[in-house]
Amino acid sequence: RRILHVASEYEGLVKTGGLADVARALPAALSNIDTDVRVLIPCYRPLLERNFPKRLHSLSVPVNLTERYGCSVREWQDGNITVYLLEHNDFYDRAGLYDDGSWPYEDNPLRFALLTKAAFELCRELDFRPDILHSHDWQTALTGYYLRVHHGDDPFFAGTRVAFNVHNGAYQGRCHARWLSPLGIDPRHFTADHLEDHGEINLLKAGVTFSDAIIPVSPGYAAELVEEQTSHGLWQLFRQHQDRLQGILNGCDYGQWNPETDRLLPARFSAADLDGKAACKARLQTALGLAPEPDVPLFGLISRLTDQKGFHYLIPALHELMQHPVQLALLGSGDAHFAGLLRDLAAAYPGQVHFTEGYSDLLSHRIEAASDFFLMPSLFEPCGLNQIYSMRYGTLPIVRRTGGLRDTVVPLQANGSNRDSATGLAFDNPSIEDTLVAMEQAVQLYREQRELFNQVQQNAMRQRFTWDQAAQEYLQLYDGLMAQ
Ligand code: ADP
Ligand code: GLC
Repeated sequence: RRILHVASEYEGLVKTGGLADVARALPAALSNIDTDVRVLIPCYRPLLERNFPKRLHSLSVPVNLTERYGCSVREWQDGNITVYLLEHNDFYDRAGLYDDGSWPYEDNPLRFALLTKAAFELCRELDFRPDILHSHDWQTALTGYYLRVHHGDDPFFAGTRVAFNVHNGAYQGRCHARWLSPLGIDPRHFTADHLEDHGEINLLKAGVTFSDAIIPVSPGYAAELVEEQTSHGLWQLFRQHQDRLQGILNGCDYGQWNPETDRLLPARFSAADLDGKAACKARLQTALGLAPEPDVPLFGLISRLTDQKGFHYLIPALHELMQHPVQLALLGSGDAHFAGLLRDLAAAYPGQVHFTEGYSDLLSHRIEAASDFFLMPSLFEPCGLNQIYSMRYGTLPIVRRTGGLRDTVVPLQANGSNRDSATGLAFDNPSIEDTLVAMEQAVQLYREQRELFNQVQQNAMRQRFTWDQAAQEYLQLYDGLMAQ
């Protein structure tokens, strides 16, 4: 099998969220099973600066009928995986991936259409006839459209099928109709049953309409996408294409996220010996200026600061939670309003709350390891990775029952009746009150029912959500598409 993933992020090179983790880990897992998998991403400024030395290819990419875009492609080897870096400095040599810090780049539709369309030219240049082109989110959602409409009669791609991962349905790549011609979209397809949406182009919609398989990143999220309340306004579209919709749960890269081997931690630990976890907690408390109290429950949070993650009810609930003896270690970047509210919270409770505004791999590992509980109260969560990392690190996730959180965490019943299987805590309503109730349940569990806490912690640490498992499901799906 020959597979090319076309993505806008890649863990270890450029990342804003979990899409990057998937774009690296899924190809790596697939490459272990008799598959030639490669990845194409843009060569953004930080990658230009790294000056990858490897082989260059030149491409002339016809995104639309009138213009060709000259690009060069560097190759970089990441284990078994060849990563192609698409250079077109006008588009990718910029301060941010998608925005300048405040506003999305106005030409984002064209920037990512070039990436998407370059995949076809690259395959030809390499004489790599892909069985599957695998696209991710709105950025590369036009893959299926370009295959069917631009390359419909092209024998080189006659055997190619398109798989489309939906990592986040809230980002739809909506743009003005004036982009039709620059993106090479035939006005005949600017209709409600193709990719038009309330007078605009909707790239996610193009992905759903024109891909051979639509794959949300958990079965729970796939189910939510066909329901009116939880589909980001697209339930009719997803219903219409339900026969091609199949959720596959992401895996976790346990090579990077394993407390027994994690070199970013001051001490390592396992389910059988948790001394190192206590040491991680003590070191983090000191490092963050929190009181050195081993028996005060420490709640961690690592997140993009966006509405999706539930901050509008979480933050008020945290203020209430501070009535209890608890500590918070918070790490995040994004929305300035939420950052301000978290700074205020930290200022109001010195020695009890610490907020680091920014992005730090090192600190994210240390918070995962040190915390007793991990907060993930998301409004919606297509899959979510941190709750999975948390379980591996013996840090009980507190989640809202939604999407991938529901699929991965088994919430402890209030009466403890499922103590043999529970792996975390959960609540239903995206409200201040329900969030607080779950966090108070955590405090009580930690302070008054330590044996039960220990048992749930052991259950959590035993869970495995492997990429090998996910890769098997993708292979089956690919094979099904190739047989069509
Ligand atoms: P999403 O992709 O919606 O942000 P996920 O849970 O799937 O959510 O993935 C988020 C990924 O990004 C995780 O690997 C998480 O550790 C990482 N991450 C998010 N914010 C930060 C941050 N401020 N510092 C370090 N890592 C972060
Ligand atoms: C998105 C989602 C997140 C998911 C990630 C990787 O960013 O918000 O839930 O885990 O993609 O698929």
